[in-house]
Amino acid sequence: MSRVKLLNLKTKNIDRDIDFLINSSNKGRTSNLLNFSTFSELTGKSKWLFNSQVLNSFEGGWSATKKFPKKKRELFQLALIGAALDNCNASKDGKCLKYRPNWKDREFDKDTFINSLEDRLLVISKDLEENPIPEKAIIINKDSRTAINKISQKFKLCITSPPYLNSFDYTDIYRPELFLGKFINGHEELRALRQKTVRSHVEIKLPEPLSIEYGDVFNKVYGNILESENLWDKQIPIMIQSYFEDMQNVLSSLNEKAKKNGQLWLVVANSVYAGIEIPVDLILAEIGTRKGWELKRIEVLRKIQRRKTKHNGNINSVRESLIVFQK
Ligand SMILES: C[S@@+](CC[C@H](N)C(=O)[O-])C[C@H]1O[C@@H](n2cnc3c(N)ncnc32)[C@H](O)[C@@H]1O
Repeated sequence: MSRVKLLNLKTKNIDRDIDFLINSSNKGRTSNLLNFSTFSELTGKSKWLFNSQVLNSFEGGWSATKKFPKKKRELFQLALIGAALDNCNASKDGKCLKYRPNWKDREFDKDTFINSLEDRLLVISKDLEENPIPEKAIIINKDSRTAINKISQKFKLCITSPPYLNSFDYTDIYRPELFLGKFINGHEELRALRQKTVRSHVEIKLPEPLSIEYGDVFNKVYGNILESENLWDKQIPIMIQSYFEDMQNVLSSLNEKAKKNGQLWLVVANSVYAGIEIPVDLILAEIGTRKGWELKRIEVLRKIQRRKTKHNGNINSVRESLIVFQK
């Protein structure tokens, strides 16, 4: 997606190509996701992500993109994925995919899919025409825990928002896109991708963390977590420990790759387990400092409201903060 968003492309012939794409979507093709997991009504489940007409129309368009050179192909593929998601029976809601209200009555089908595709392609061709991207950028799409060490240049400024310690599994919420875009084919590959994500969730059997030295703030809350009998998953203590191990690793690699006086801006939110607030911002500030960063400031950006549940206890909001480090 990043690659497509940074694309500059001549729009000559684009109308003809768009017509071809729309015609191919109109003809459709049998999607191989029809019987997979919860992807369509043909799986026999009580809820399904896409009506089969949407999947088949998507697939018709997808096959047609193969005739285009890489840049245009990827551009159209992103438009197709976007249009499919516009016609998905569920939408993203915080940590999960949630079925839209009255999703059955919306009756997403080939026509609604093609309307969305046309709308998106219109925006895209206007954007290509009117907003060329002036700078070339390099995109590295890899596991930050190992890839940062391999970057040859040093940086002046790193701005990032790592996964929060909120047991949010990105590979689950982006499952429709992962499968539609054929980035992932089958459960095995999904599991392998999950292993590459920062350990901020309990969806996989987590490998044992090796370290437990994350400073005084960590020690205090972690002790409370270990004593708690109210955790909704027995892996939560390991997840918390592993998260800080991964983040320590990343903070340390980033420090090595920063120029003198280079800065790191990190946005994270705190989390709550068994009614205990984990001050992730303070713990990361402590870890970063121990890994060679100078802490410049922690700024509270907003309070994230939380629903009252038995797991949250009395905590109905948590901080989202910006941590600024300098080398
Ligand atoms: C809080 S989100 C930030 C999203 C990003 N700032 C944006 O606006 O799209 C954290 C992101 O980290 C990604 N992520 C998870 N594990 C990762 C890893 N090991 N290496 C790099 N990114 C990872 C997640 O997929 C997610 O997109």
